[in-house]
Amino acid sequence: MYSLAKSLLFQCDPEHAHELTIRGLAKTQHTPLATLYRRPLIHNPVQLMGLTFSNPVGLAAGLDKDGDCIDAFAAMGFGFIEIGTVTPRPQAGNDKPRLFRVKPAEGIINRMGFNNKGIDNLIENVKQSRYQGILGINIGKNKDTPIEHGKDDYLICMEKSYAHASYITVNISSPNTPDLRSLQYGDALDDLLSALKQKQQQLAEQQGKYVPLVVKIAPDLSPSEIEQIADSLIRFNIDGVIATNTTLDRELIFDLPHAHEAGGLSGRPVQGKSTLVIRELAARLDNKVPIIGVGGIDSLTAAREKMAAGASLVQIYSGFIYHGPALIQRLAKHI
Ligand SMILES: Cc1cc2nc3c(=O)[nH]c(=O)nc-3n(C[C@H](O)[C@H](O)[C@H](O)COP(=O)(O)O)c2cc1C
Repeated sequence: MYSLAKSLLFQCDPEHAHELTIRGLAKTQHTPLATLYRRPLIHNPVQLMGLTFSNPVGLAAGLDKDGDCIDAFAAMGFGFIEIGTVTPRPQAGNDKPRLFRVKPAEGIINRMGFNNKGIDNLIENVKQSRYQGILGINIGKNKDTPIEHGKDDYLICMEKSYAHASYITVNISSPNTPDLRSLQYGDALDDLLSALKQKQQQLAEQQGKYVPLVVKIAPDLSPSEIEQIADSLIRFNIDGVIATNTTLDRELIFDLPHAHEAGGLSGRPVQGKSTLVIRELAARLDNKVPIIGVGGIDSLTAAREKMAAGASLVQIYSGFIYHGPALIQRLAKHI
């Protein structure tokens, strides 16, 4: 079934294929047609950050940016779902074309630029969904918010999503929003984490519910940068870290079509880099902050490598595009 859908969708421009899929899933998720993609939810629970994940395989951020089809992805058997990145105000993202398949390497290059309909629309979608499992809401800043005021955008999104999220992901690692990655370093990182932790404490007291805060980092970091990030995560009692986002590195695909396109590269070409970052992080974090591993997971072996490097859970995006929902079941059962 998926190979038929894939062969049709791969005939289309990648973003058009994405839109068709999201629209189709959103329209069918509450109808009998959902049986076309419904799969059993594999029960292989993981306890982490005070939450119980039905199984260790999650949907990575960026596929369902506005939370349009949470119930459809839940029906496919994901153990957790992360929606977003969402920003305070709606924004169109970068000019098209901005999404490219690097087929021979099972990679994807994107420079979407946080195209999304804004936090209020996303929260409405969450309220409409019937999903009872673990839902991560991934938050970012608007492109036209100056980086020195970026913190305010994260605080707005955190305040609005707190009551509706199982955990909140702070995305400071997209390569497609100018200067965003500068928030990963030094005083800028400490200042952001300190403000977010204070807000978390305040919201936890007000709402009587503790929502873990998770930081998502890039794969393009040196060992000393990873060490500094790990130190900040521990100092500010951050609840988890997602490693990694997409890479700017083109070394593994330099001679393939679209390699020259600007943006973040995901899929198989980022697999090794992400695993290295996870291994390095795990050594520095000393089990004090759990790691969610993502980057090029396209098989059971790749998922097990992430776990062996120090991840407690995994997420998939590009592997899901190339291999379909069957990958979820395989990983959820056997990791
Ligand atoms: C088209 C596309 C859009 C993405 N958008 C986001 C996003 O909005 N926020 C985010 O944190 N990560 C985003 N990502 C990164 C993925 O969540 C993931 O970290 C990365 O692709 C590595 O995993 P993969 O190799 O399984 O795709 C995006 C990835 C792709 C391919």
